[in-house]
Amino acid sequence: MKREQWGSRAGFILAAVGSAIGLGNIWRFPYMAYENGGGAFFIPYLFAMISAGIPFMIMEFSLGHKLRGAAPRAFAKMGGKLEWLGWFQVFIAAIIAVYYVAIIGWAISYLGYSFGQSWGSDTNAFFFSEYLQLGENSPSSLGSLQLHIAIPMALAWGITFAAIYTGVKGGIERASKIMMPLLFLMVIALIGRVVFLPGAMDGLNYLFQPDFSKILDAKVWSAAYGQIFFTLSVGFAIMIAYSSYLPEKSDINNNAFMTVLINCGFSITAGVLIFGVLGYMAQEQAKPLTDVVSAGVGLAFVTIPAAINLLPLPFILGPLFFLALVVAGLSSHISIIEAVTSAIIDKLNWSRKKAASVVCGTGFVVSLAFATNGGLLLLDLVDYFINNVALLSSCLIELVVIAWLFKISDVRDYVNNISEFSIGKWFEVCIRFLSPAMLAVILATNLINTFK
Ligand code: PFF
Ligand code: NA
Repeated sequence: MKREQWGSRAGFILAAVGSAIGLGNIWRFPYMAYENGGGAFFIPYLFAMISAGIPFMIMEFSLGHKLRGAAPRAFAKMGGKLEWLGWFQVFIAAIIAVYYVAIIGWAISYLGYSFGQSWGSDTNAFFFSEYLQLGENSPSSLGSLQLHIAIPMALAWGITFAAIYTGVKGGIERASKIMMPLLFLMVIALIGRVVFLPGAMDGLNYLFQPDFSKILDAKVWSAAYGQIFFTLSVGFAIMIAYSSYLPEKSDINNNAFMTVLINCGFSITAGVLIFGVLGYMAQEQAKPLTDVVSAGVGLAFVTIPAAINLLPLPFILGPLFFLALVVAGLSSHISIIEAVTSAIIDKLNWSRKKAASVVCGTGFVVSLAFATNGGLLLLDLVDYFINNVALLSSCLIELVVIAWLFKISDVRDYVNNISEFSIGKWFEVCIRFLSPAMLAVILATNLINTFK
């Protein structure tokens, strides 16, 4: 059977960007930047982007392109019994898929609430007690299924399933071509309104004001590298699967640069949006900005709803924000599921329709664990493990295996041959020495901190 192919170069880039841009860009990046030195965070972040993000993306694109397989097959074709590494990555992708979809489900619910701000004035109590049912007075026990969460999650699975089932070109590519331009337009519309609000500039000053004392802190570097790998969807079989559908003639270097730069540019844009809103909120409530910033889940589902209550035209800006979150999340979820599905198609020779049905069906059932009262607890746990251990070790193993067992100069020759512009020797230095050294130190630090 002939391998499926992307219909166009733009289609591939939009799909890769769709994978990269996700929940992580909207609620993770702004807070990470703020926490880790504000403007000073951009130095480690850009360093990680150039020294690890871009080389890693080029490497994964070239693997998929040359070896024409999802991660397990691609690694198997390298010889040296490496198929397990592909399955390890697919396994982690599957874990990410089931908790990531829970957050998309919440965002779908909140999209619904946002039209009338039905979260009320106490958005904290609403999210934790009413929505997640975590309050002390919550009648249900830890394991009970919350249908109002399960239903939007099922909807998210349905959309992902439709895209995967339909195929690379007709499903994933078509979805990306609709979703990504829509996402960009929505974010531009939001920013266009938000930056003119009183106090917005104070928020931006806060985000971009560098705290250089943090730049020597190892934690800040660890955060920057962790964020780069997470945000670029590398190390988890995703970009290998996507690039395995590239046509013979493909400009790998250019595609990789575009994907990375669009993603990181989007992150900074999202930072402007979030901190513009937070600055406005601080001014409205006459509070210092430090009192209104919050992290991750709390940022999107407690702070932003509270800010939407204060915004002009809340019934427009609110839905725009949550629809953006849903779209960003879904396009990433599709890519994570494709990484799993394509691996199964390669291995078992199943039809795409069968593999998509089994993967999404099983995924849906497993993800229901996150629609129980214990969901948030479990999510925090899994998220911590993924970000601090699994992601970094998977990337490190991949680097060590590829860079030390194989000639990385061959990879460079390969991509330079088919690309319009060539990458220099720095690529080899980054892949062989710099990135593995950085990853090893960060991983060791995280492990020590975890078990301390
Ligand atoms: N890159 C996406 C984000 O930043 O949200 C989604 C993602 C895909 C995260 C794959 C992690 C991952 F392993
Ligand atoms: Na996405």
